[in-house]
Amino acid sequence: MKSLPKVGIIGCGYIGIISAVCYASKGMQVVGIDLNAKIISDLVSGKVPIHEPGLDVLFQENRDRLSFSDSYADLAGCDFIIVTVATPTQTDGVVDLNQVTRVMQSLTELALDGSISESVLVFRSTMPPGTMKVIRTEALSKGLNLRLLHYPEFLREGSAIEDLFNPPRVVIGAEDVAVFEKFRDQFLIHFEEDANTFLTSFENSEYAKYVDNSWHALKVAFGNEVAAIANKHSVNIRDMYDIFVADNHLNISARYLRPGAPYGGSCLRKDTDGLKGLAKQGQVSAPLICSINDSNYSRIEEIVALVKSRNPSKVLIEGLSFKVGTSDVREAVQLDVISSLSSEDINICVFDPVVEAAGNTAQNFVDAEFCATEKWDFHLRFHNLLTSEISAIETLDLT
Ligand SMILES: NC(=O)c1ccc[n+]([C@@H]2O[C@H](COP(=O)([O-])OP(=O)(O)OC[C@H]3O[C@@H](n4cnc5c(N)ncnc54)[C@H](O)[C@@H]3O)[C@@H](O)[C@H]2O)c1
Repeated sequence: MKSLPKVGIIGCGYIGIISAVCYASKGMQVVGIDLNAKIISDLVSGKVPIHEPGLDVLFQENRDRLSFSDSYADLAGCDFIIVTVATPTQTDGVVDLNQVTRVMQSLTELALDGSISESVLVFRSTMPPGTMKVIRTEALSKGLNLRLLHYPEFLREGSAIEDLFNPPRVVIGAEDVAVFEKFRDQFLIHFEEDANTFLTSFENSEYAKYVDNSWHALKVAFGNEVAAIANKHSVNIRDMYDIFVADNHLNISARYLRPGAPYGGSCLRKDTDGLKGLAKQGQVSAPLICSINDSNYSRIEEIVALVKSRNPSKVLIEGLSFKVGTSDVREAVQLDVISSLSSEDINICVFDPVVEAAGNTAQNFVDAEFCATEKWDFHLRFHNLLTSEISAIETLDLT
């Protein structure tokens, strides 16, 4: 059995207290720090200030390994110091990092006097990409080479204990692999060992939580809009839900989530517009569904803007069909791109042997020629884009 680390938790709110209790239940000595005197006095007197199923019992069972304080000095000698302060988003969308900044001021003082020189500082707070880099740079400017990790928390209140011990996956942002390995071997090993673990950059781990929560929000909002429209058209949404989620090949799956080209083709735009029409007929407000095709068109405009920014006079479009493996050109994204570029007096040539072999000429669709090897200033390789696994718009395969 590996020896158990001593753990400090900064911020004994929802995540902090749940984490403290769960870690103590694995045998770790845990000290929780909070600046809120009421929270600390409650915890010291044995009262858990939040409601979470099972937490009170687990807290009482492990009280001998839990201590609480409003003094950062009590973090001295901790192997891991886990930061769980709040990071609210302001009304303008800017994330308020005041609590994180204040934590870093306190930790910097401790680091400068040597009391946490061996500690790994683990940030569980949700923070925008770039925050960890700023933390590291500011510490370096004070001569501190801190051991830093970002380790987003994915638990859900209401099933927090179960979720903490069984996370959907573990994501850890690190710049120093040795720091990650220390955390994995001395801390994670005591639980979460079966979880799928991703060691990644600070920015990726910071971004992960925003993507996850926006995705969950999107699913709820989408489900509710679809239900509201269904109610107006004699569709039983309970049955419909079962039918929808039964498809884990295309519907509930990673398919169609790949970053890359916007969608084209004869179906996705048409039927999304059809659902928008059903919302309108039923006088249902469905802003999410009504904006899907607009969102897709914004990505097309990005491609056009990117090409124009290079001032080409001749552009090769490789792949004219709406996706690879078909000669179907209907509603292909390329047609929008070609039409926008042509209106700027940019010459377009197209390379797509499959479409050409199907007897189509480019002029059937757009004002362009099929060609293979002519000189061009700019190359948009659409079929690569449509099939590649990771290809964000900014990294379009351009030559
Ligand atoms: N609540 C959730 O379900 C959940 C799930 C996953 C991730 N998160 C993220 O975890 C973080 C914490 O969320 P929360 O809901 O636990 O927040 P919270 O507001 O419940 O807790 C934050 C605690 O930090 C304390 N605090 C503030 N400044 C401090 C300082 N300088 N030093 C010590 N303590 C300080 C506060 O008094 C408070 O008790 C956020 O970034 C949140 O986005 C939350």
